[in-house]
Amino acid sequence: MSFSQEIIRWYQVHKRPLPWRTSTDPYKIWLSEIILQQTKVSQGTPYYMRFVSQFPTVFDLANASEEDVLKMWQGLGYYSRARNLHSAAKQVVNDFEGIFPKDYKGLLSLKGVGDYTASAIASICYHQPEAVLDGNVYRVLARYFGMDTPINTTQGFKLFKWRAQEHCDLDKPSDYNQGLMEFGALQCVPKSPDCSSCPLQQSCIAYQTNQVEKLPVKVPKKKPLKVFHHYVVYLDPNGHTIYTKREGKGIWEGLYEFPLLEASHPMEKKDLEEAISTMDLPKPEPLSFSLFNTEAVLHKLTHRHIYAYFWVARTTHSIEPATAFKHINTYPTSVLISDFIRAFKNSYF
Ligand code: ADE
Ligand code: SF4
Repeated sequence: MSFSQEIIRWYQVHKRPLPWRTSTDPYKIWLSEIILQQTKVSQGTPYYMRFVSQFPTVFDLANASEEDVLKMWQGLGYYSRARNLHSAAKQVVNDFEGIFPKDYKGLLSLKGVGDYTASAIASICYHQPEAVLDGNVYRVLARYFGMDTPINTTQGFKLFKWRAQEHCDLDKPSDYNQGLMEFGALQCVPKSPDCSSCPLQQSCIAYQTNQVEKLPVKVPKKKPLKVFHHYVVYLDPNGHTIYTKREGKGIWEGLYEFPLLEASHPMEKKDLEEAISTMDLPKPEPLSFSLFNTEAVLHKLTHRHIYAYFWVARTTHSIEPATAFKHINTYPTSVLISDFIRAFKNSYF
C-alpha cells in the first residue's frame, strides 16, 4: 500500500467525530481551521461551537462588531487572527457576494488565509489535491521519510511541502490531509509515540533507524525578551476603575487594559508614583497604593516573556474616564488581564 493509502485507511478507522467533519461548507471549514491553528482540537471545539451558533453564516460574522468577535475569541490568544477573521468575512460578503472563492489561489486572497488554510479549504470543500502542512504533518513526514532538514526554515517548508504534495491523494485529498493531521495528533505524537501499534512501522524510516525521538529537527529559537508590566488598577468610591482600549499596532490592539507602565525591570512603589505623576492619570493616595501580587505573573508570548505586576490604587474621589468594575467582563481583554480580574474579584469583592 502507498503512503497515502495507509494514511487514508488509518484515518477512516480512527477519525474523531468532530462537529465540522459533517460539513463541507467553506464558511464552517474556514472557521474551524483558523481556530485550530491557534489551539488543539479539545480546546478549539467549544470555540467553534460558540462561533457557529452566534454567527451561523458569513453574513452574521461580517455584520458583527469587532468587539463581539474579539470577545468570542477571548482566551485563544494571537488576536490578529480574530481581527483577520472578521476582515475576511467582510471581504467574502462585500467582494464575493457571500460566496467563498472556489480554489486555492482565490482563497489566498482572503485576509489571514495563508498556504495552510487555503489548502485545507480547497481539499476539504472542493476536493482539490492541495496538500496541507501543519505541525502534525511536519512531524509525520519527518519521521516516516527520515527527513532531518529543520522544519522552521524556508528550505524546510519547501522540502516538506513538496513531499506532502507529491503524495497527495488525487481521489481523496480531504481524507489524505485530515488523515495526516489526525495521525500526527493521535498516533505519531510528539513524545514517545507508540510505534509498536503503528501500521506504518514497517516502512517508517525513523522507526527502522531508531531516530523517532530525534525527528523532526528544529533550529533553536532566540531567547524571548523579558519585559515587566506594571498595571495600575484604580478603584474609586463608586466601584469605578480606568479601563481603556489598547491603541496602536501589536498583538493586544483593540483589547482593554488598565493603565500600563512598561519597563525592562521591576519598578518600586516610589518609581511608579513618580512615573504616574508625569502622566495623565489620577495620583494614587500613597497609603492605599499597594501591590496585589508580590510574585510576578509570567505570561509567555512567542518572542516575549511578560512579568506582570498589578498595583491597586484606591482613591477617595471619583475618577475619569471611569468604567464600572462590575461591568468589566463585557469588554474583550487578554488572558493575562482576565485572569487577574478573576483573582481580584475573588479577594476584593
Ligand atoms: N487540525 C487542524 N485541522 C484539522 C483537521 N481538519 N483534522 C485534524 N486535525 C486538524
Ligand atoms: Fe510515527 Fe512510530 Fe508510526 Fe513511525 S512507527 S509513523 S514514528 S508512530
